[in-house]
Amino acid sequence: MELSHLPPEILEAQREFPAALAACADLDALMRLKGAFVGRDGSHAARLMEQLKAAPKERKKDLGATVNALKNQWEEALKLRQGELERERTRAAALAKAWDPELPPPLPPQGALHPLNRLMDRMVEVFRPLGYHVEEGPEAETESFNFDGLNIPPDHPARGSADTFFFQGQADLLLRTHTSPVQVRVLRRIGARGADGVSELERRGGIRFLAPGRVYRKDEIDPTHSPMFHQVEGMIVGKGIGMHHLKGTLSYAMKALFGPAADVRFRPSYFPFVEPGAEMDVRCPLCGGSGCRVCKGSGWVELLGAGLLHPNILTMAGIDPGIWSGFAFGMGVERTAMMVSQTPDLRLFFENDQRFLRTMGGLD
Ligand code: FA5
Repeated sequence: MELSHLPPEILEAQREFPAALAACADLDALMRLKGAFVGRDGSHAARLMEQLKAAPKERKKDLGATVNALKNQWEEALKLRQGELERERTRAAALAKAWDPELPPPLPPQGALHPLNRLMDRMVEVFRPLGYHVEEGPEAETESFNFDGLNIPPDHPARGSADTFFFQGQADLLLRTHTSPVQVRVLRRIGARGADGVSELERRGGIRFLAPGRVYRKDEIDPTHSPMFHQVEGMIVGKGIGMHHLKGTLSYAMKALFGPAADVRFRPSYFPFVEPGAEMDVRCPLCGGSGCRVCKGSGWVELLGAGLLHPNILTMAGIDPGIWSGFAFGMGVERTAMMVSQTPDLRLFFENDQRFLRTMGGLD
C-alpha cells in the first residue's frame, strides 16, 4: 500500500493507530477510537473519502485503492480488539459471580411471623409458667356462645346489626365480637359431668387458659380502632379466686410485657359476664403520661376488660358458684402492640409495609 501521497495528518494517525488501539481498556474507549477512524462523519476515513471524490480523475484509481485498503485495515484491527475486549468483559462478569463452594450459600429473604402473632405468642409464654394453656374457638360463632352464654341480655346494643357482623341467611351465626365465647365453650366442656358424675373441672381442680384470636366489630377505623382486631382472652377457675388474684396476675403480665417500670391502673367497669368488672389501662408509653393523640390527652390507654366470673356464667355451665370462682380478662392485642412498640397508629399493623414490619424488633 502506497501511503506517501496521503495527507500528513492521516499518515500521523496511521502511525499512532496501533498504540491507540492497544490503549483501549474497555469497549467504550474502543467505540470512541472507532468513531474517530472509521465513523460516518468527521472520521479520518470519511475525510479521505471526501478527498477521493475531489481528486482528479487520473488519480482516483490509485488513491481509491489506498483509501479502501487503509479503511479495511483499521476496521479489521478494530474488530479484533473488540472481540478481545468482549471476551474480557464476559470473563470478568463470570468471575464476579463465581460460585465458591467454600462460602456459605446466599440465603433467600426470610419470612417472619407477623408482629401481632409474635406478641400473642409472647403473651402465651408469659402465662405458661402460671399454668395457663391455649384454647381456641371459631371466628364464625353462634349468638348463643357470643352473647347468651355470657349473660348478655337480648336487648343489649352490641347484639344489633349496627355493631355486629351477622351472616346473611344463617340465623344465629355471626363473626364473634370478642374472644369471650371461648370462656363459655371451655366452661361447658370442662364443667360437664361425665358418666361417673365427676367433671373434668373437679378432676383437674380448676381451669386456666389463654385464648388468642381474631374478632370483628362494626367499628370505624381510626388510629386505635379497626373492624377486625385481635384479643387474648384469659380465664382462671378455682377455689377462692378473688379480685386480688386478678390484679396481681395482670400486673405481673404487664411488667413481663412492658418492662418492670410498667404502670397500670384498674377502673371499675361493666360487662354482663363479670361481677365486679374492671378495665385496665397502661400509662401511655408514647408520651409517658403527659397526653398525646394515642391516649387522647389522658396519659392512659385502655388495654383490657376484666372481672370476676359472674355466678350466672358458672351456673349456666353446670358449675356451682358456691364452690368455684374465677376471673377473666380480654386484652386488645393491637392496642398492646402499639404500646409495646410505641407505634402511634394501629393501621400500620395491617398495611404490610415491609419497612414498618422490619422495625418491629420491639415485639421480638
Ligand atoms: C371485651 O371485648 C370483653 N370481652 C373483655 C372482657 C373479657 C371483659 C373478660 C371481662 C372479662 P371490650 O369491648 O372493652 O371488652 O374490648 C376489650 C379490648 O379490646 C379493649 O380494651 C381494647 O383494647 C380492644 N378493642 C376494642 N375494640 C377495638 C377495636 N375496634 N380495635 C382495636 N382494639 C379494640
